Amino acid sequence: MQIKTTKRILVTGATGQIGSELTLELRKKYGKDNVVAAGHKRKPSEKLAESGPFEFVDTTNKENIVAVVKKYGIDTIYHLAAVLSATGEENPQLAWHVNMDGLYNVLETAREQKITRVFWPSSIAVFGPDAPRVNTPQNAVLIPQTMYGVTKVAGELLCNYYFTRFGLDVRSVRYPGIISNETLPGGGTTDYAVEIFYEAIKKRRYTCFVREDTVLPMMYMPDCIKATMDLMEADPAKIKHRTSYNVTAMSFSAGELVAEIKKHIPDFLCEYKPDFRQKIADSWPMSLDDSAARKEWGWKPKYDLATMTKDMIEKLSKRFAEGSFN
Ligand code: SER
Repeated sequence: MQIKTTKRILVTGATGQIGSELTLELRKKYGKDNVVAAGHKRKPSEKLAESGPFEFVDTTNKENIVAVVKKYGIDTIYHLAAVLSATGEENPQLAWHVNMDGLYNVLETAREQKITRVFWPSSIAVFGPDAPRVNTPQNAVLIPQTMYGVTKVAGELLCNYYFTRFGLDVRSVRYPGIISNETLPGGGTTDYAVEIFYEAIKKRRYTCFVREDTVLPMMYMPDCIKATMDLMEADPAKIKHRTSYNVTAMSFSAGELVAEIKKHIPDFLCEYKPDFRQKIADSWPMSLDDSAARKEWGWKPKYDLATMTKDMIEKLSKRFAEGSFN
């Protein structure tokens, strides 16, 4: 349902895994002309390009952001553009530049241009080996081992600072691994949980880059979008955490995911060849305590491993049959 709104929204990273789907949902809710999609290098999909305005924006260049904010009278920013964990380990300098300079530029633009609300995603990557790995608490110690995690911790602190110092309404969640079927993720450690579905349907074979017993917190895209939009709609008085909220929907091992897929594709075979991403996965939580998000703004996921797997296989099989990939 489209609601009456005066919101004018900018989504950075709109061609990415989350941005490509979040932008379409925001357009449904707030009106297509009120949601500007911004990408950097990747061309927008047809769906994205045809459903509303698109601009190329390099978030490491503040003037680029300011120009788009002024051109469209933007009052709300979802800043999703980022380098993920595995790419970040291969190129830590790039991860720092894109993730930190990009966020700083967005926050400074928001402060100067009187933006009313900003969403910025943090990640389970803020945690490191010193945090409890099971049911990791909201306020666990944050000493990550990856550059991606370092930028997420620093980013959380920066968001909190802009809230307390300048009163900027910045909101954030720590996304777990996000599973989706519209746009493939790129350069993340949790990417295996998405790739596995594509390969299971196409080839009945997958070589997984983490061990069979690797457990990580995960979430299906409809829940990811719900968490994001619910938090952004929540009454400001309810938002007690201005760093970032733990949110999760399910936790499973790579082996459990394979077993679930086999219920639908019995001849599916998975091999395990752990690479450098294993070490990253081993430093992250296996499950999260997201009770603060549940209590404070009513977070509740819909999908578990079984319902997510069934829906992923149905949606992807249909898309493969139709050849409808961008
Ligand atoms: N999915 C991300 C990654 O693997 C975690 O935030 O890098």
